[in-house]
Amino acid sequence: MEKLEEIIERLREKVGTYFSKDASGHNIDHLERTLHYALYLQSKEGGDRLVVGISAFIHDIHRIMGAQQNRFVSPKESLPVVQEFLKDVDITENQKQRVLSAIEHHEEYSFGSGGINVSDIESLILQDADNLDAIGAIGLVRTIKYSIAHNIPDYDASVPLYQNAYDERKEDPSTIHHINNKLIRLGENMNTKTARELAEKKTKLMKDFLDMFIKESTGNL
Ligand SMILES: [Fe+2]
Ligand SMILES: [Fe+2]
Repeated sequence: MEKLEEIIERLREKVGTYFSKDASGHNIDHLERTLHYALYLQSKEGGDRLVVGISAFIHDIHRIMGAQQNRFVSPKESLPVVQEFLKDVDITENQKQRVLSAIEHHEEYSFGSGGINVSDIESLILQDADNLDAIGAIGLVRTIKYSIAHNIPDYDASVPLYQNAYDERKEDPSTIHHINNKLIRLGENMNTKTARELAEKKTKLMKDFLDMFIKESTGNL
C-alpha cells in the first residue's frame, strides 16, 4: 500500500488541473490547507490517516461541477467523479468507501437544516478541517471572493441578520449575512475539541470585523 504522501503527490497534478478554473474560493490552495488541518486534527483525535488525508484533498469536486453547471451540485452528486479520482489510488475497498462517505457528508452542520448524519471520526475531522479553512482571515477573503464571483451584495440592511437554521443549499442575501449566519457559528459547533480550540481566535476576528462593518455602514461609530 502506498503512503499518504506518495498518494497525494500523485494526485496533485490531476487535482491541480481540475481545480485551476475555480473562481469561488475552492481552489487547490483551499484543498492543501484543508489537508494540513485534517492531518493535524487526525494526529490529535485519531482515525485512519489515509482516509482523512485523501478525502480532505479531493473533497470539493462538487464545487467545480457546480461552477460548470451553473447550479449547486451536492457532494453526493459528485461521487461518480470522486470515484474516477480514486481509481488508481492504492487503498483498500473499505477505505475507498469511507473516503466517499466522508466527502458525501462534508457539508453538514449541526445548526443546518439537515443536521449532521455521520459519526465516524474521519467524516467528523473532514467537516472540521473544511470549516477551519472557511473561517478567520482566509475565510473572510474566500467569502469575499465567492461573493464577487456570484454577484452577492456586500450587505442588505433591509433583511434581518439573524437566521435560526442555516440552509446550506441557499445563498445568503449578502456577504455580511453569510458571515453572521454561518461563519461565526462554525467555531463553537466544531465536532472535535482540537478544532474548537483552533477556531477561537478566528471567530473573534470575524466577530470584530462584523461589528465594525455594521457600525461603519450605519455611520454609528
Ligand atoms: Fe464542499
Ligand atoms: Fe471545502
